[in-house]
Amino acid sequence: MSKLHYPDLQVCVLAAGRGKRMRSNLPKVLHKVLGRAMIDHILHTVESLRPKGIAVVTGHASEMVREHVGQPVNLDWVIQDKQLGTGHAVKQCEQVIRDVRDVLIVCGDTPLLQAETLARLVDEHRQCDSDVTVLTAQPDNPFGYGRIVRDADGHVSSIVEEKDASDDQRQITEVSSGIYCVRYEVLFDLLHAIGNRNAQSEYYLPDIVPLALAAGQSVEAALMDDSDEMLGVNDRVHLAHVEDLMQKRIIEEWQRRGVTVEKPDTVRIEASVKIGIDTVIQAGCYLIGATQVGDECRIGPNAVLVDAWLDDRVNVYAFSHIHGAAVGSDTLVGPYARLRPEARLDEHVHVGNFVEIKKSVVGEGSKVNHLTYIGDTNIGVGCNIGAGTITCNYDGANKFLTEIGDNVFIGSDTQLVAPVRVGDGATIGAGSTITRDVDAGGLTLTERNAQQHVTNWKRPVKVKR
Ligand code: UD1
Ligand code: MG
Repeated sequence: MSKLHYPDLQVCVLAAGRGKRMRSNLPKVLHKVLGRAMIDHILHTVESLRPKGIAVVTGHASEMVREHVGQPVNLDWVIQDKQLGTGHAVKQCEQVIRDVRDVLIVCGDTPLLQAETLARLVDEHRQCDSDVTVLTAQPDNPFGYGRIVRDADGHVSSIVEEKDASDDQRQITEVSSGIYCVRYEVLFDLLHAIGNRNAQSEYYLPDIVPLALAAGQSVEAALMDDSDEMLGVNDRVHLAHVEDLMQKRIIEEWQRRGVTVEKPDTVRIEASVKIGIDTVIQAGCYLIGATQVGDECRIGPNAVLVDAWLDDRVNVYAFSHIHGAAVGSDTLVGPYARLRPEARLDEHVHVGNFVEIKKSVVGEGSKVNHLTYIGDTNIGVGCNIGAGTITCNYDGANKFLTEIGDNVFIGSDTQLVAPVRVGDGATIGAGSTITRDVDAGGLTLTERNAQQHVTNWKRPVKVKR
């Protein structure tokens, strides 16, 4: 659990905007950055402050956002029917906020924001005993952001939006992140006083700054170290840019925790993935969703793991694809293997090239090394499944089970027509089509055509034209 704890803090997340520039049927905050919706990134960040409550303001497609997030206990949903501006959005939270010292206001579309940065904002706000504190930044390009206007003594006097700014004001390089910490006691009086006489006819949250000063309250600015953290996603170009920055951060975090990542620029490791120490992730790998990889594994190059679970010392060779499957320790997979949902490989298993396994168990020490399809099957321990074996699990309408005991040897090019069982220690001759249960032990094989030898056989020769 996070070390941070702000029991007298209320968080407001502004997420009612339409996100027009995304050109999407999805509300903006449901777009994913490294596999996690933007709203989940920001909620995860603010939850680690352990505040008293979190209010999320939604408007556009609010039902979709609610359905996605569910109902955490300390979260209140607030509807803003018309998007009349950021000040108007915060005002809608009045009914759900009670008995806190401060209100922290953040936007739903800034997934790079870190909890420590917010904690520093709240701490500085409290150390200065300020009424309104705005988190500011010095980005390389201030275009589009509200500029921080300071008086002759260097005190913040107002925040001017790009569209309302004079040419001189547009030269200011310090900008507002849109994130504020405001003393609860003063916040709603200030919000009620805001007007909408500006270039966008909106109720601007930044207008609380001059209103607070006019009321004799104190306003401070806290400058953030890394301006990338406030980057907001407005279109899909921003989305890709933010994802790149987050990917770099996540990979560096895993590297510091003892994971080797080769050619990190070619690798995707999504936000929810977990990886153990001394594991090597080679070039071109994609680790997606809820994938978990144990210690001392070796993955890749160019392997794809989606919601995969790997125990320790697993080798996944090049171009293998593992989706919704579990792999026991000391197991080898690939190259070019495909494990599909509900495949479970136990310890010391070998699965080789061009093998597909679906909804099946492969017992400890068993080998399925070449060109094989295993579906709806349980394989015991110590088995050898020969090249080209096919479990015929589907009759075109229904699926059936194949059950293979322990220490079974299945010869190459065998078809097992399910439902069928093979007893412990059985051996099946190459090229058999097994349609009935096979007894334990002994050799089972289906009839073969007699082998012939034609001594005077001549190979055809190419006709010259
Ligand atoms: C806002 C700030 C600007 C700051 C910038 C930082 C205002 C007026 N401007 O500008 O000073 O530099 O953020 O990124 O506050 N929203 C609502 N309801 C509304 C309007 C907006 O919930 O009626 C939400 C949006 O979904 C978004 C956030 O508020 O998450 C910010 O709104 P946006 O329109 O992106 O403001 P900016 O123009 O970026
Ligand atoms: Mg914005």
